[in-house]
Amino acid sequence: MKSVLCKSYGPPENLVLEEVPDLTPGENEAVVEVYAASLNFPDGLQIQGKYQFQPPMPFTPGSEVGGVIKEVGPGFDHYKVGDRVMAIPGIGGLAEQVIVKPESVRRIPDNMDFKTAAGFAMVYTTSYHALKQRANLQPGESLLVLGASGGVGLSAVELGKVMGARVIAAASTDEKLDFVRQYHPDATINYGDGELKEKVKALTNDRGADVIYDPVGGDLFDQSCRCINWNGRLLVIGFTSGRIPEYKANLALLKGSSMVGVFLGRFRKEEPEAYEQNLNELLEMYAAGKLNPIVTQSFPKEEYVKAFNIFTQRQAKGKVTLEFKSE
Ligand SMILES: NC(=O)c1ccc[n+]([C@@H]2O[C@H](COP(=O)([O-])OP(=O)(O)OC[C@H]3O[C@@H](n4cnc5c(N)ncnc54)[C@H](OP(=O)(O)O)[C@@H]3O)[C@@H](O)[C@H]2O)c1
Repeated sequence: MKSVLCKSYGPPENLVLEEVPDLTPGENEAVVEVYAASLNFPDGLQIQGKYQFQPPMPFTPGSEVGGVIKEVGPGFDHYKVGDRVMAIPGIGGLAEQVIVKPESVRRIPDNMDFKTAAGFAMVYTTSYHALKQRANLQPGESLLVLGASGGVGLSAVELGKVMGARVIAAASTDEKLDFVRQYHPDATINYGDGELKEKVKALTNDRGADVIYDPVGGDLFDQSCRCINWNGRLLVIGFTSGRIPEYKANLALLKGSSMVGVFLGRFRKEEPEAYEQNLNELLEMYAAGKLNPIVTQSFPKEEYVKAFNIFTQRQAKGKVTLEFKSE
């Protein structure tokens, strides 16, 4: 089978697509034949050796896939060969086959294609956990989403609307904001000039946003601490800007606001039932037509460099996938 391999840290151009032996499932494992694998921002860091979790070399990047159960090992009795599934194996996704554990697998609705399945779980469960459990977002509250056109950002805009918030979508270019408008945010902010705080205040009667969803960090985080409402919740999602900011405790005091960490991986481990419940609810929303996941950039497996460069060049709009097999 063919697999994308990282054999030395560096830019996407260092990766190779090679023939490797077929996989065999062990105890309580299955092999998924991958139709589509999605890419996420951390994949671009991992191949450069810059992520907080680094697998041993050589490794196949890619944390989530959509495909079909190809073979099951002893004890793996949750799904059967031929089932159409989405899975978050964590690593190894950018290949024609990947090993999965039962807890990372979900059957997909008949009307969901593999591309959509590959890009569904990670972004929606992150944003839903953030808005539901961590921020306790209430209908009518204002929700400011930074990096709103990216993978997790776009899902936060969409879920914010579903949850009844007044959503302010913020991004660095008008082109990205035009793209986000298909999810009907109530207002938009272009922070491409580096200015966020005054624009948020102007849109919130000078009070600031009730909930701020921040996958960017850096200067935008610093400004967010200054344009958050009384009782506001600032959700720490990630640091795509490249700078982990410092939180000024005096601002929390003055505004009665909280900085709230969000970590999907740990949530899955610590509260598996709540995670499962969230995913069930998200799949129900999808079935009811309330969610409309968008994969805008989909590449054949040979074009893995192009796919990775979307993230390294700050070009993400919705989800990015690599196709390993056509439906
Ligand atoms: N906490 C968790 O459990 C969890 C789960 C999943 C993902 N994440 C994190 O969420 C973040 C976003 O992931 P993603 O896959 O959604 O990424 P993405 O699709 O690439 O979106 C990232 C957004 O960040 C903004 N950005 C600002 N400065 C950037 C820079 N220097 N380079 C690239 N993007 C920049 C971009 O929007 P503008 O150009 O409009 O600013 C972009 O839309 C990552 O840090 C990831 O690790 C966290």
